[in-house]
Amino acid sequence: MEVLGFFEISVVLFVVLHILRIYFADCDAILHFYERFAKPPERRLRGKVIWITGASSGIGEHLAYKLTELGCKLVLSARRKDELDRVKNQCLSLAQKLFPLTFEEDFLVLPLDITNFSTHEDSVAKALHRFGKVILRQLIFLVNNAGILQMGLSMDCDFDVVFPVLNTNVLGTISITKAVLPHMVQNRNGQIVVISSASGKSAPVPYVAAYAASKHALQGYFNALRMEVYDKNVGVTMICPGLTYSNLFRNAYRENLETRRDLVLPPTTMKPERCAHLIVIAMANCLDEVWIAKPSRLLELYLAQYLPLVRDWWIQRDNRNRNANLTAASRTN
Ligand SMILES: NC(=O)c1ccc[n+]([C@@H]2O[C@H](COP(=O)([O-])OP(=O)(O)OC[C@H]3O[C@@H](n4cnc5c(N)ncnc54)[C@H](OP(=O)(O)O)[C@@H]3O)[C@@H](O)[C@H]2O)c1
Repeated sequence: MEVLGFFEISVVLFVVLHILRIYFADCDAILHFYERFAKPPERRLRGKVIWITGASSGIGEHLAYKLTELGCKLVLSARRKDELDRVKNQCLSLAQKLFPLTFEEDFLVLPLDITNFSTHEDSVAKALHRFGKVILRQLIFLVNNAGILQMGLSMDCDFDVVFPVLNTNVLGTISITKAVLPHMVQNRNGQIVVISSASGKSAPVPYVAAYAASKHALQGYFNALRMEVYDKNVGVTMICPGLTYSNLFRNAYRENLETRRDLVLPPTTMKPERCAHLIVIAMANCLDEVWIAKPSRLLELYLAQYLPLVRDWWIQRDNRNRNANLTAASRTN
């Protein structure tokens, strides 16, 4: 039997180390590399103006705190003004401890319903009015984070629940982006960040068909947009998180628009602070796409990308049990 050569051994070793890394990691290899070896994010983000939609809770809220710690100026948007005020006050007290020269004007609460498309131009004008005049304080980042979830077996769900999911997650996101984009293109400087989902890359979990469709739509739209605006010095960063603690599940529609039940999340669920930290690394380094998830979902994402047939076989086998468990969990929660 022929002995393996240096090249073959290196390839086998690389694959084994890569699989081992997935077992201990909570993000893809490139993001992991940037977390370890890139310059600290504050060098690139300090003083930048960043607009976060869906900043009133969950991932968006924690992203606001992380960016505040780096010295960013923020525009905070969502529908609930009282919750945005709470987040703003928290950001302000954090910032004033770290940077004595922080002013209340560095944080703008800009209530916004992402599905109210006709107001988006006006909201951009308000954000620019506050931050756009000083050349070094242009609105450089838009973080499209606002989103909702719907959970239920497709055949049990009213068609009515599909519409708000696609309207909020897809059309709202596209509309606000289109309102901001001309400003970025004109300044030849901008980074559009989209909080997609692991379900936007691989959607094997029963129960989230409409949600997965919305996140796949975002992947398609924004990957195409990246090609269009590349030569205008505007970038697109797609963030694909797996399960993360937030209010997403509590607020999720179920079989119809009236039913909402919380879901007990498994202990492997990611903390929003950690998710926000990794998002900041991706933003600071303008990465095109990153995956943030605990090992089993991360492995699934790798299989979906590189060995889709294996992934499908594994998930279909697994789904029989998962389907039954989710149905039981949903009925009891
Ligand atoms: N948690 C996870 O496991 C997970 C995994 C992958 C991806 N994601 C994505 O992460 C993003 C943030 O979700 P989250 O997990 O942090 O959930 P969350 O705590 O429920 O936050 C959702 C945010 O979106 C805002 N929002 C919802 N509908 C809106 C509308 N019509 N107009 C404006 N803002 C709206 C909510 O604020 P108001 O209610 O005040 O408007 C809230 O601030 C979503 O895009 C979600 O799909 C989450």
